Amino acid sequence: MNKRDLLAQKLAEAKMGGGQKRIDAQHSKNKLTARERVDLLLDKSSFEEIGALVKHRSTDFGMEKLHYPGDGVITGYGTIHGRLVYVFSQDFTVFGGSLSETHAEKICKIMDMAMKNGAPVIGLNDSGGARIQEGVVSLGGYADIFYRNTLASGVIPQLSAIMGPCAGGAVYSPAITDFILMVEDTSYMFVTGPNVVKTVTNEEVTSEDLGGASVHSEKSGVAHLTAANDLEAIEDIKKLLSYMPQNCEERAPKTEYKLGDESRDQLADVVPESANQPYDIREVVNGIIDEDSFFEIHKNFAPNIVVGFARLAGRSIGIIANQPAYLAGVLDVPSSQKGARFVRFCDCFNIPLLVLEDVPGFLPGTDQEWNAIITNGAKLLYAFSEATVPRITVITRKAYGGAYDVMNSKHIGADMNFAWPSAEIAVMGAKGAAEIIFRNEIKSADDPIAKLAEKEAQYAEIFANPYRAAERGFVDEVILPENTRTKLIKAYAMLENKVATLPKKKHGNIPL
Ligand code: HXC
Repeated sequence: MNKRDLLAQKLAEAKMGGGQKRIDAQHSKNKLTARERVDLLLDKSSFEEIGALVKHRSTDFGMEKLHYPGDGVITGYGTIHGRLVYVFSQDFTVFGGSLSETHAEKICKIMDMAMKNGAPVIGLNDSGGARIQEGVVSLGGYADIFYRNTLASGVIPQLSAIMGPCAGGAVYSPAITDFILMVEDTSYMFVTGPNVVKTVTNEEVTSEDLGGASVHSEKSGVAHLTAANDLEAIEDIKKLLSYMPQNCEERAPKTEYKLGDESRDQLADVVPESANQPYDIREVVNGIIDEDSFFEIHKNFAPNIVVGFARLAGRSIGIIANQPAYLAGVLDVPSSQKGARFVRFCDCFNIPLLVLEDVPGFLPGTDQEWNAIITNGAKLLYAFSEATVPRITVITRKAYGGAYDVMNSKHIGADMNFAWPSAEIAVMGAKGAAEIIFRNEIKSADDPIAKLAEKEAQYAEIFANPYRAAERGFVDEVILPENTRTKLIKAYAMLENKVATLPKKKHGNIPL
């Protein structure tokens, strides 16, 4: 065979992964192959493969006779919407996509390149975990990846799509990355699988119920996004990337936007007259941002806070909004964790923050206290306080108690704080406040119920409005809802070149 034919043969072998039978098996499970995924993810003809001919070095259990060029992972670089990205895509048709020493080396190689060249890494995970035939070198390979994930955190965006099994310690690489997207019905993540669970705890559970996409998107919050199939997952990754910069030194790309009449009349009627009536904060979000630009993250986890990316006059922003339509928008353990994580991501990558505030306070109760609402609420407080990106708050209705401070108040470094005329900014709601401070007066009144109502009205008149805060300058301006978009566009433009630095330190100690 001549040299050119030999090369062609080797590359053809690499393209075939574990062989047609295994490719068919992959398709029959409603999964694309590793190569098909890469082709769909990247701009046409942009993919350049690295390490297609790499082979494993294992010799135990007859492995020296079993070789598949590429060793179960396709690695390389290409572009998405014209921007450079690095990709690895695990090939389940080769030893179940399991991670060998050389498989890990290939992933590490592109991670190192991504760090040097300042571009995101996208991992398409579909793997049976550590290559069982290799023992400790495979575990070492995982650790080499975890270490790089950690060093790259906050430097370049790292996105993980889970498109098949992801079990054992293997879950910790995606866990350190910025976003996890899971494909429904075909992917799962757990530290110990159903068999071990049964042996240790006698609990019987399916893989889906233990670590499927719905479990992780609704209960644990491990997954930020879910998709119905591989195709949708790939489209979501592309969309997600469009909101972020290439690395921490850059800004997110701006889309074309020509300013016109930016007033939005529909915002005037969103907040109901009665302070206790719920409304969907997404109506406010969608009324403020560029049309159809909201990309919600963690949609089904902790729905009492809504977070996601959007564009305002073509600029990428991160939105954190209390959701009065769920648990009255109260802050609790999961919503604090969700909000804090999102704030940290945006701050790492220079994405300005917008807070929409309607929060009655922190959720009281033993469940919350025993699950460390103190530590978890502090995460959100810390995340906002430390963020140096442009930060704006709009108080649409309630801003009560500690939650007023936490939700990006001026006191913790927000740049601008607007309030709608419907805003109520106080230590607590009028009824609770009256019950405490006028307790004796109410008890000794001839008609305690009427007295309570009188005192409640008195407290509400003084504090159930934005003006006390505005008089102090804690609110910069009370604005009409329909003018919010205009005000925000101007304010973010004013903050465009904001420079804020933190005190010199090794790193802070966020209450984990
Ligand atoms: C080597 C593996 C493998 C592995 C699967 N294969 N997992 N080979 N090492 N870890 C091989 C199978 O032998 C099979 O080869 C092919 O991949 C497809 O596997 P199937 O079992 O036929 O597929 P399926 O029925 O879809 O089941 C997928 C699976 C199962 C659920 C992932 O294969 C499985 O349970 N694998 C073992 C998972 C595991 O325990 N891994 C170690 C976790 S501990 P043939 O030749 O028959 O096609 C770990 C530690 C990491 O990962 C620690 C980091 C700190």
